[in-house]
Amino acid sequence: MPRTLDPELRRALAARIRYYNEMGIYDFYRQPPSGRAGDVPIAVDEPEIAVSTNRPESGEEMSSWKAAAVAMPAIEENIFDAIAPKPEQSVSDPVKALKIIREDLGDCTRCVLHKQGRKQIVFGVGNPAAELMFVGEGPGADEDAQGEPFVGRAGQLLNNMIKAMGIEREQVYIANIVKCRPPGNRTPERDECATCSPFLMRQIAVIKPKVVVALGAVAAKTLLAMSASMMQLRGRFYDFRPVGVRSNDPNWDGCKLAVTYHPAFLLRDPRQKGEAWKDLQMVMKELGMKAPSGRWSFVVRR
Ligand code: URA
Repeated sequence: MPRTLDPELRRALAARIRYYNEMGIYDFYRQPPSGRAGDVPIAVDEPEIAVSTNRPESGEEMSSWKAAAVAMPAIEENIFDAIAPKPEQSVSDPVKALKIIREDLGDCTRCVLHKQGRKQIVFGVGNPAAELMFVGEGPGADEDAQGEPFVGRAGQLLNNMIKAMGIEREQVYIANIVKCRPPGNRTPERDECATCSPFLMRQIAVIKPKVVVALGAVAAKTLLAMSASMMQLRGRFYDFRPVGVRSNDPNWDGCKLAVTYHPAFLLRDPRQKGEAWKDLQMVMKELGMKAPSGRWSFVVRR
């Protein structure tokens, strides 16, 4: 008789499997509870889990992450860990709740970035009850020095994008997928994103925005747990629920997520600013916002 999974557990398991698929991993094995290393692995074939483990079509964009078969003896424990109530969930004040998450993060040494020259952890900044959240990739040199996301050149452009929407930086919340600067501003590795993003998921569940804007491919792919080109990802809303955490607000069951270009990319290719503006207009419409009259200050230099 098929076993019925708790819906939350099923969701967490589906997200985990999607995550492994994204890394190019499609073959899963489970050790029996009494299993020892070396036991014959059992294929996971729960019929009630609606997750495709088919390999992607050739030509579909997949990252350079290698295909491999992995044994997942600890998957059930991991999932229970992932959906265990978080300490901030019993706290209604978002400022206090964010503080709890920050304290939980501590002087983080969970991934290699802590020993690759980071000066400090860049947690996130802004309105703890923001309707709109921006999520970037990871701190650069300026952010690492100042402890605040998007304070360098890309940050100035992001500020202008926010202003063009008719709001102030202080009204939104800004964070990154990874909270420590990758050396030389390299793209964060998949495992670094996976290690750090649960803290971002918790921040999102506390802030309970109406819309999250993913800035660039790393943010989009990590938040959506899918791999596609920016062209494919932009131009629509996704239903987004932070993975592995529940909000303490029964009325908040996730939000919309939109993808746009990273401001650093727009600095390199300003011709794409018009496209980014279209993305922001879509967000503004969703939030019932009206752009101030006049030219878009981040698109047209005055
Ligand atoms: N780029 C990012 O992705 N995040 C920052 O905070 C700064 C630059």
